Amino acid sequence: MDKFLIKGPVQLKGEVYISGSKNSALPILFASLLTTELIEIKNIPKIKDVDITIKLLLNLGVTIKRGKSLIIKANNLNSHCILSKKLIKSIRASIWLLSTLLVRFKKIKMYLPGGCSIGKRPIDLHIKNLKKLGAKINIKNDFIIASINNQFKGTHIFIKKSSVGATINSILAAVYAKNITIIENAAKEPEIQDLIKFLNIIGANIKVEGTNKIIITGIKKLSGGVYTIMSDRIETGTFLIAAAISKGKIICKNTNPKYLNTLLKKLMYMGAIIKIGKNWCSLDMTNKRPKAVNIITGPYPNFPTDIQPQFTLLNCIALGKSIVTETIFENRFIYIYELIKMGANLFIKNNQVFCKGVNILYGTKIQATDLRAAISLVLAGCIAKGITIISDINHIDRGYENIENKLINLGAKIIRIKN
Ligand code: UD1
Repeated sequence: MDKFLIKGPVQLKGEVYISGSKNSALPILFASLLTTELIEIKNIPKIKDVDITIKLLLNLGVTIKRGKSLIIKANNLNSHCILSKKLIKSIRASIWLLSTLLVRFKKIKMYLPGGCSIGKRPIDLHIKNLKKLGAKINIKNDFIIASINNQFKGTHIFIKKSSVGATINSILAAVYAKNITIIENAAKEPEIQDLIKFLNIIGANIKVEGTNKIIITGIKKLSGGVYTIMSDRIETGTFLIAAAISKGKIICKNTNPKYLNTLLKKLMYMGAIIKIGKNWCSLDMTNKRPKAVNIITGPYPNFPTDIQPQFTLLNCIALGKSIVTETIFENRFIYIYELIKMGANLFIKNNQVFCKGVNILYGTKIQATDLRAAISLVLAGCIAKGITIISDINHIDRGYENIENKLINLGAKIIRIKN
């Protein structure tokens, strides 16, 4: 894997254009398997996870033209194709092939999915829901073997634990199901709303009732259409934090701040001046040291687990003590040991990190272990005194488009050392 060599400390300031959302692009790309008509998807981020998804779709025989937008036609699939183990294991999102390929082929054998190693990440809820919708599913060794009788059957699903992935798989299966499917305690993440908007534009009948009930009336045929995916709220949060840790000032363009309420409140409490518009958001922390603040991650609209590592870094250099509690993934603190090597005063107990803010971090050799850990360490390198060398940096390419150039434009001094 590549390395980043970062020279710090720098103040990060300026303007950044936020890319399309990773967690919206991936389900929408897999959902494109549900229609045989032409679809065009705009604002697709140029990131590794999207590349892997495109490769999986090409593997299946989907026609894809990649220019400013993606033009996709899944009319001629190869039901005999053997899905690449390497690709399936590279991303967690490959689990959405289970519902979509059952719709298309009625039976499927595929490897269990992979993804960032941030926890056990079981798929029991996906399987339970798809079985409730009429699928027969067996997991043997490393494979999922599944089938349906002609079509999924509408049903009533209650998802006992809020799961983005399991909610999406159930929606994808229910689009063509016989009769009506009701999903209760569905996850409420904005990316799920984005998927629903896309599916409705191409002819699905999906309604959201209250905050966590989704009602899907099975339809006969989806059409084609054009859709612009939402911008990445996690990337937006990351850049706001980049300015906050470096006593800088930033404007994020092409973003929707309404999805970041919980984070923005915390940042304001720390002393940041936040301004928002319809499609932009700015943070000013010029020459101010942030005040430490506790966070507890949780399903939307609570504090996003995908911003936890970046925010913990902020607490690392803030004034005072704080506690970061992670409730979603049990293995999301590995990067903490790397921050400690840089001089952070952090202590892990169970699912909590106890932080005592330090004045300065110091550059050293550290290692990235997953996507969000990687960005947290890169930001740490930007504010640390001296040289930071981060190995295994390719994790960052999975979810951040053009990251070093975006940071360099804000004042960072980063060199990528290719392996
Ligand atoms: C998605 C996002 C990821 C984000 C996470 C939580 C994508 C591609 N990834 O991941 O960036 O961090 O939501 O917002 O959209 N669980 C089970 N059984 C299951 C499924 C999940 O126990 O069958 C547990 C998980 O281990 C975790 C919790 O439920 O503790 C939430 O996971 P889930 O919302 O499903 O996350 P992902 O869809 O994997």
